[in-house]
Amino acid sequence: MQIKIVLVGASGYGNTYLNLLENYIDKNSYVLEAIIDPYVQNAVRYPEFKKQGIPTYDTLDQFYMNNKADLVIIASPISVHKEQVITALKNGSHVLCEKPLVPTLQDAYEIQKVMDETNRLLGVGFQWSFSNPIRRLKEDILKGIFGKPIFLKTHISWKRGDDYYNPDAWEGKIRDKRGEWVLDSIATNATAHYLHNIFFILGDSMEKSKMPKIIEGSVYRARDIESFDTCFIRGSFGDDSQFLYCATHAGEKNSDPQFIYEFEKGVVYFNQNENPNIIAKMEDGSIKDYGAPQSPDETVYKILLMMDDIRYNRKPVCGLYTVLPHLKVCNAVFDYMDITSFDEKLRIREVNPAGYVIDGLYEDSLECYHKNKLPDEMGYSWANPSVKVNLDEVSSFRGIKFK
Ligand SMILES: NC(=O)c1ccc[n+]([C@@H]2O[C@H](COP(=O)([O-])OP(=O)(O)OC[C@H]3O[C@@H](n4cnc5c(N)ncnc54)[C@H](O)[C@@H]3O)[C@@H](O)[C@H]2O)c1
Repeated sequence: MQIKIVLVGASGYGNTYLNLLENYIDKNSYVLEAIIDPYVQNAVRYPEFKKQGIPTYDTLDQFYMNNKADLVIIASPISVHKEQVITALKNGSHVLCEKPLVPTLQDAYEIQKVMDETNRLLGVGFQWSFSNPIRRLKEDILKGIFGKPIFLKTHISWKRGDDYYNPDAWEGKIRDKRGEWVLDSIATNATAHYLHNIFFILGDSMEKSKMPKIIEGSVYRARDIESFDTCFIRGSFGDDSQFLYCATHAGEKNSDPQFIYEFEKGVVYFNQNENPNIIAKMEDGSIKDYGAPQSPDETVYKILLMMDDIRYNRKPVCGLYTVLPHLKVCNAVFDYMDITSFDEKLRIREVNPAGYVIDGLYEDSLECYHKNKLPDEMGYSWANPSVKVNLDEVSSFRGIKFK
């Protein structure tokens, strides 16, 4: 079956989708029916769309007036995801929406109602969840090879400059110009994958993630943005297992994602800075190599599996229910943890790329990661007291009740 695909959002990550479709997917297996983007003229591929006769529309509603699609891929700004997902589902399409699916948990429940009515599939573009290395690892965890989880932690330090946080962009915003929630942050956007992956890997089936019970931590900003660019969260799951997430866009050094997932019978290591592959060391001394989750030939699996899910009517490996733990944790962080601006004296202005970093933050964040500690426990001068939240008691976001 040739899948009729519509892409929403032509620049930015939408262009990555076009590259993946072009370079990694059999051209006979799909047709690119249309591009939806009110600013499509700005896309680098706009001349190509014209030349190839690919129709472009400002909105999905305009497209659906005379057309149908099997799969709508949504790579537009976060604040418009909900309305676009709902429009696509109601018009009979399956959807692969970029992460984060929506800003609030309540938005997800609204989508869930439409899914129940329409019986369409929804995948969320956390590419690690669809990748072979992560799915193979999760299969082994589900088989019990690793035993019980003990401590799963991750660290990322990716600089982001002034261009990323430009005032017209949605990055760094809590609401957009229309007043709609964006809730952009380092935890919900660029490095969301590595927080979500902890919950995903611990889910009790391939399509489920594990909801933490308690979270504690603190969040910061190095720039004049509404949201936060630095985040430390530790949490527990109600059994003996815990997690720690240390991520910053304001460290003085770039460092790719790394994680250590400690289980009773083995430890899983990943450090993109040293080795692209996930390696597990088991208690009997044996070693297992799960492969490289970050490579483009693994990223493409979110499209490939979604296309197969449509063909064989299977549940996407990462769907609405799978992303609820990440969404609830992030909503609680925004609702309960004050965003602290780093002291002006710690801000260092860098020229290339232009932006701010915080003196000592990279080393401090790495120390938290290695020692399983939060910044206040380390006694850093810049640290705020950690705030603790019991997620069982979180039933709303900024007064909007989850139902
Ligand atoms: N999975 C990943 O690794 C990854 C990486 C980057 C971005 N993303 C996600 O992709 C999404 C888009 O991010 P981005 O960085 O490309 O954003 P962007 O702002 O750079 O680009 C968004 C695109 O959407 C278009 N657009 C704006 N308003 C629109 C509307 N109402 N309808 C349709 N199109 C519209 C813009 O013209 C642009 O082409 C976000 O959810 C982001 O988190 C995912």
